[in-house]
Amino acid sequence: PAARFTLDRAFTVGRVDPRLFGSFVEHLGRCVYTGIHEPDHPAADEDGLRTDVLELVRELGVTAIRYPGGNFVSAYRWEDSVGPVDERPRRLDPAWRSTETNRFGLSEFIAFVAKAGPQAEPMMAVNLGTRGVAEAVELLEYANHPSGTALSDLRAAHGDAEPYGIRLWCLGNEMDGPWQTGHKTAREYGRLAAETARAMRQIDPGLQLVACGSSHQSMPTFAAWEATVLEETYDLVDHVSLHAYYEEHDGDRDSFLASAVDMESFIENVVATCDHVGARLKSKKRIQLSFDEWNVWYMSRFQAESAAAPLDWPEAPRLLEDSYSVTDAVVVGSLLIALLRHADRVTVACLAQLVNVIAPIMTEPGGPAWRQTTFFPFAQASRHGRGEVLDVRVESPVHETARYGEVPLLHATAVRDPETGGVTVFAVNRDLRRPLPLRVTLNGLGLDTVVEHSVLADEDPDARNTLADPDRVAPRKGEGAVLAAGILDVTLEPLSWNVIRLA
Ligand code: AHR
Repeated sequence: PAARFTLDRAFTVGRVDPRLFGSFVEHLGRCVYTGIHEPDHPAADEDGLRTDVLELVRELGVTAIRYPGGNFVSAYRWEDSVGPVDERPRRLDPAWRSTETNRFGLSEFIAFVAKAGPQAEPMMAVNLGTRGVAEAVELLEYANHPSGTALSDLRAAHGDAEPYGIRLWCLGNEMDGPWQTGHKTAREYGRLAAETARAMRQIDPGLQLVACGSSHQSMPTFAAWEATVLEETYDLVDHVSLHAYYEEHDGDRDSFLASAVDMESFIENVVATCDHVGARLKSKKRIQLSFDEWNVWYMSRFQAESAAAPLDWPEAPRLLEDSYSVTDAVVVGSLLIALLRHADRVTVACLAQLVNVIAPIMTEPGGPAWRQTTFFPFAQASRHGRGEVLDVRVESPVHETARYGEVPLLHATAVRDPETGGVTVFAVNRDLRRPLPLRVTLNGLGLDTVVEHSVLADEDPDARNTLADPDRVAPRKGEGAVLAAGILDVTLEPLSWNVIRLA
């Protein structure tokens, strides 16, 4: 049987915020060092940034770039990362058991963002693990105040006369997690986040602030954490954060391909929790969601490796360097569909991370940079998933999964560009073996042409791009999509990510 849905211009979810296509640069492994920054590399520019990586970052189309962590931020001293590079201290990074040289810091990050594409903007996290209100407002003064104060003049003395103008700030990271340096209870964190937000807003009321939600939906404190934190911060923050990583467990690929079922329920549960607190506070304000860490991450492999690793504090070690398959890319595509389907409330999202560390872009020190399989769905969604998300109610054949029960084989969304009237359908076929016929009825959209059908699928679902074979996997042209009399008929290949552009 076929899967089907109807698109109608009158039924929309909401407008896509460009920040939905954000990413994340953490001082972790080789994300920064030999990832984006490698002064000795033949392709390095005057700032020590790898231009080959910058080109790929621009092609990927990232917007908000979160920095400097992650778990790393919770013991971070921002002052270590500014001023003359040779005078910056080396520090222990307890989160990743590495040595941080601070050769890349705030100024270098701002220079990187300026070159990362027209829509790139910094999303800065403050340390609420080992530090608090004073250090956060000092960092804000250093970064954003124009001049005439000790810290703004220090920035100018360090070579950056212009303020950085950072709008979007995270109040700590994953403070609900016992692994977090300076982990807190919800009440302790909520109070600290509220006081930090209040002080930062005294300096600049226009900042956009993100309070930490849960590190994942299965945390024992999930939902109670959000409720308590928001009781303390509701009027002071704009967003609450969500983090989620998915991997295949014990060869259960059907459940893995249904990961977006968890992501969508997580989003809906956080929305319900935010609105419940809003109702109790009799507030008209609606808290937005910042899904500021999401991806496929083979975390169980990392946990096994790190338990066995010696405590020798390496610099920029190879950590979390997952190599992604076609299956992983289809899951990433489905997670992007989940975010787009909730674009009314998810207004910031960051693919974690950007380079080398669970990343769409890989590099070799002194060598090339290449695209992982997961690069493609992200780049296509960022490029074509702009505008108004149309309401998609899928009727689809289902199959049974061990983790999520009965799951539709089709996962889909559609985005209409209000300027051109063109519509892009993003669709995943979760069936490992069978093609899935899809019929889309287009009501009053005035579309008559299939501009493009792009497919990411492969005879080998474990195929991947590697240093030795960097172009093994790429999207290709799909066959047989027909649009006539307002009906689109297309067959989705087994285990595939599809982008169908209609005009
Ligand atoms: O992205 C890797 C890590 O995952 C981040 O540092 C942390 O916030 C999360 O647990």
